[in-house]
Amino acid sequence: MTEAKSDIISALLLEERQFPAPAGFQKQAVVRDPAVYQKAAEDPEAFWASFAEELSWFQKWSQILDWKPPHAKWFVGGKINASVNCVDRWAKGALGQKAAIIWEGEPGDQKVLTYEDLYQKVNQFASALKKLGVRKGDRVAIYLPLIPEAAIAMLACARIGAIHSVVFGGFSAEALRDRINDAAAKLLITADGGWRRGAQVPLKQFADEALTNTPSIQHVIVVKRTNRDVRIQAGRDHWWHDVLEGAEPHCDPEPMDAEDMLFTLYTSGTTGKPKGIIHTTGGYLVQTYATSKWVFDLKPSDIYWCTADVGWITGHSYLVYGPLANGATIFMYEGSPDWPQKDRFWSLIERYGITIFYTAPTAIRAFMKWGSQWVDKHNLSSLRLLGSVGEPINPEAWIWYHEKIGGGRCPIVDTWWQTETGAILITPLPGLTTCKPGSATKPFPGVEAKVLNEKGEEVKEGGGLLALTKPWPSMLRGIYGDPKRYEETYWSKWSHLKNMPQNVYFAGDGCKRDKEGYFWLLGRVDDVMNISGHRISTMEVESALVDHQGVAESAVVSKKHEIKGEAIAAFVILREGVQKGEKMVQELKDHVAKKIGAIARPEDIIFTADLPKTRSGKIMRRLLKDIAAGKVLGDTTTLADSAIVQKLKEEYKEE
Ligand code: PRX
Repeated sequence: MTEAKSDIISALLLEERQFPAPAGFQKQAVVRDPAVYQKAAEDPEAFWASFAEELSWFQKWSQILDWKPPHAKWFVGGKINASVNCVDRWAKGALGQKAAIIWEGEPGDQKVLTYEDLYQKVNQFASALKKLGVRKGDRVAIYLPLIPEAAIAMLACARIGAIHSVVFGGFSAEALRDRINDAAAKLLITADGGWRRGAQVPLKQFADEALTNTPSIQHVIVVKRTNRDVRIQAGRDHWWHDVLEGAEPHCDPEPMDAEDMLFTLYTSGTTGKPKGIIHTTGGYLVQTYATSKWVFDLKPSDIYWCTADVGWITGHSYLVYGPLANGATIFMYEGSPDWPQKDRFWSLIERYGITIFYTAPTAIRAFMKWGSQWVDKHNLSSLRLLGSVGEPINPEAWIWYHEKIGGGRCPIVDTWWQTETGAILITPLPGLTTCKPGSATKPFPGVEAKVLNEKGEEVKEGGGLLALTKPWPSMLRGIYGDPKRYEETYWSKWSHLKNMPQNVYFAGDGCKRDKEGYFWLLGRVDDVMNISGHRISTMEVESALVDHQGVAESAVVSKKHEIKGEAIAAFVILREGVQKGEKMVQELKDHVAKKIGAIARPEDIIFTADLPKTRSGKIMRRLLKDIAAGKVLGDTTTLADSAIVQKLKEEYKEE
């Protein structure tokens, strides 16, 4: 048997393995009764409302759902504040002295904030924002490292009804500027710097670069994190500690309408321009609360660690809002997993007694590659539940995670969802579901998902496109400033077909269902790449490349990568007279990293004389993918000959 064949067969065997919820876990799980699925399916609105009842409202809703496809309103007429639910409820109750946030910085510094501490800080910072003129409905941009101030800033915005827009600290100055301008943010919260792999990331310097052209920004608040020298522009820039000092210790929470915006978060779509995804308050809070409780089986004694940065939706929903709305203790770590050594995560789990650990497959694959000797140095027996998110997890990585990190005893929740969905939609329930490595298993109770083919017909067993066929509370409510794009992107895939309802959400993911109805997510079907669990569009990278003066044209595709899942391969046509070679390769990679951020740095730059296009002028991406994967040409340098590109094109049959 060839090696490739035996690999395929062993992967299939792994997929076929089944892992029922361990009996010990099941006995004490938050959800033990399989009837929850049936009950929720019979009346999803009542199901979601039962979670809403567990939150604290200024005024109860008069209607659970108002659904005028593709526009949903949840908990209509309800008044609620997210910071009250995440902080006041616990600080004022029996949990005041309970740790809300336990944090470790990359250099090893530590902080613990009890719910009472968090209450004080959120109130003070909310007062400070008000004093600087921020009002309900204003947009506030947040560009911070993963430090407690990030959560405080988000919750303070929520308290006064300002809409936060968190921009990942790894994004470039230009990416920050675009996001600030799209939202017309009034205030920016940043830091002098942050720590990453032993070095300082000069966030304020990047912010200054961005702020050269952001007319809406009136004030900047700067957290002192690294003590590096930064420029403070009088009148505009203020130190975080200074604004806190004079701030009122109490700030009344704004009673927000359930449908008032809580935040926008930018994510890549299929064009060069990122979309500001809109999330509102009531439904978002209800579903992040419900899924945190049921999927992560949160108990009062848990120390829960989600490794995502607040710059991504996972950091919003499962580092901040969901767990805090449950009164949980969250752990937060600022830096890199391999600093100062490749066992940093395991050392953190051991030292802090982490019980629930939620991370991405790309990280798991990196840990596998580094080897289990790093894991074996530590006692991970505090762990009781593991989670995975962001991309499909390959069965090998699942099994390794289960055995090496979970000691064979922890269930794994492989959770499928998106920035747009706001909360988890397809996932095991850890006390109930029999897991199959590589499958996100079944929709969460109350969620209706289907696999459809291009004709809109349901595929009960086999492959197709993932569709969501009922509204859910934390669904996006739109794209900031672009209502048309909202309808076109998510709701029009099947809407032109006869007999198709106009209310089917297209997720952009391929998916297959097996004979037991399990969902197996297969990755994006559009021009969105998933690099280390982060969404980047091919067009964004292409526009960054053609922005370089030496580039005439470019086409970007993804290729398989052992650790990142996917990596970027860029085909580039240089302008006349521009020198190819290693120097230009580096220059172009640096250029993209500078324009977008290091996560978008291409793995390969392939110079080509021509780009293969169809007669209608569409780039033949599948051919480029096969070339990048080494399936078509062994030696890509031959692409310098346009006759070869022509020949390839003629020989190649697009699917
Ligand atoms: O392709 C799916 C993949 O990540 C996309 C959403 O990316 P983003 O909005 O950045 O949110 C990531 C964190 C929720 C999806 O369209 N994806 C996410 N989770 C999974 C996944 N693919 C397979 N399995 C998952 N568990």
